[in-house]
Order: sequence, then C-alpha cells, then structure tokens
Amino acid sequence: MNYIVVDTYEELGKKASNIIASQVIMKPNCVLGLATGSTPLGTYKYLAEMCAAGELDFSGVTSVNLDEYAGLDGSHEQSYRYFMDTNLFSKINIDRDKTFVPSGIAEDLEKEGQEYDRLIEGLGGIDLQLLGIGVDGHIGFNEPDSVFTAETHAVELDESTIEANARFFSSKDEVPRWAITMGMKSIIQAKKILLIANGQNKKAILEKAFNGPVDPMVPASILQLHPDVTVIFSEN
Ligand code: GLP
Repeated sequence: MNYIVVDTYEELGKKASNIIASQVIMKPNCVLGLATGSTPLGTYKYLAEMCAAGELDFSGVTSVNLDEYAGLDGSHEQSYRYFMDTNLFSKINIDRDKTFVPSGIAEDLEKEGQEYDRLIEGLGGIDLQLLGIGVDGHIGFNEPDSVFTAETHAVELDESTIEANARFFSSKDEVPRWAITMGMKSIIQAKKILLIANGQNKKAILEKAFNGPVDPMVPASILQLHPDVTVIFSEN
C-alpha cells in the first residue's frame, strides 16, 4: 500500500486530482468510481480546472458513484446526484449520460442494487475507485456490520454517520436514515483504489483500518486485501 501523508488539504486535492488525471490520460475511456463528501471537493475543483485549461478530456469517461441517500430525488440539494452534478459533472466535459449514481428513489432498492452491479459488470468493472472514509470506517455507505456485504444494497445508516452528515442538512432529523451503497465486491474489484481523508478526526479510524485486523466492523479494513491502494491523508 502506498500511504501518503501531506501537510494541507490543498496538497491532498492536488495529488488526488493528479492521480485521477493520470488515469484519464492513460485510458481515456476509463471507468471512474467516484465519491461524495467534503473531502473530494478540492480534488474535483482541480480536475475541473485541468479540464477548463484543456489539459484533460473526460469525453470518453464513464463514472459510477458509490452511493445515494434513500428517498432523495436527484434534484434534491442534498442528494449525491445533485452533489456530483454541481461539484464536478457540470464543470467537466463528461457526457452526463455516462455518469451513474444509484437511485435513492427506486421503488425496490434491492432490485436497483442488482441492476447497478450488472451495470458495473457490463462496463468491465472500475478502473480507479476514489473513496473517502467515514469516522466509523465506512466506505461508500458500507457501515460496520458482522459481515462484508458484496452486492450493492440498501443500508440503515449508523447514528455516527447521521450525526457527521447532519452538517449538510438544516437539522439532524432531515438526514435520511437509509441509503443505497455500492457493495464491497465492485469496490474491491476496482483495478486501483485511491482513498482520501482529511482532518484529525480521521486519524484513529485510518490507523484501525490499515494497521488493525481485517474486520467488517471496520469496513475500510477490507482494502488491506487489495493489491493497488493509495491512501492520501492530510491532518489539517
Ligand atoms: C459520506 C459518504 C462517504 C464519504 C464519507 C466521508 O458518508 N457516503 O462516501 O466517504 O461521507 O465524508 P467526508 O469526506 O465529508 O468526511
């Protein structure tokens, strides 16, 4: 594993965007697995800048996002579809029809999960998966559990996740209690993984995830089994 510690959030964003840019340059028709949260915002800003400067071409890229809140339509400002449209897709020359986010309003989330897995399989899997990490060790919305769940599935969010994500909503009560998340199979089968984390509050969980045992109670620990993981951590 390649574990990089940088001094600033800006540096984290620059390094992560350079890695994603390299992937797009090396394979212009690649499949990028993308993430939401506050950590990737800097990374997305730099990617948008590179694209605007004509240094990067996303026209052949397909993207698959990790997760979505259950019950939120893509036009809802706190939905992850809206986040991606606003913070990245509208700022780069990706074909919006080739950007995929699981639907949080599908009538049958289990069926939606199966279809999402088939979609990823049909695309030939993910070339580079960008991940953040939750304070409880979740990746995507794969919450601590007694097992690792392979398939894309509906999940009840942990109290700590609801609390952490309440900052984006006007009150904690508005945070959806359920979500749909890409499962571990598609994540672990990505050819390359890039996990980014920012802030003191992520230090302990990173230590557990990458230096502790592989344990479904620390979902990110499964990444220890992956042959090509880069972690970039900025404490500040
Ligand atoms: C959410 C997302 C995760 C993300 C995590 C960390 O819960 N579902 O995919 O990694 O937040 O977010 P942040 O980067 O804001 O700390």
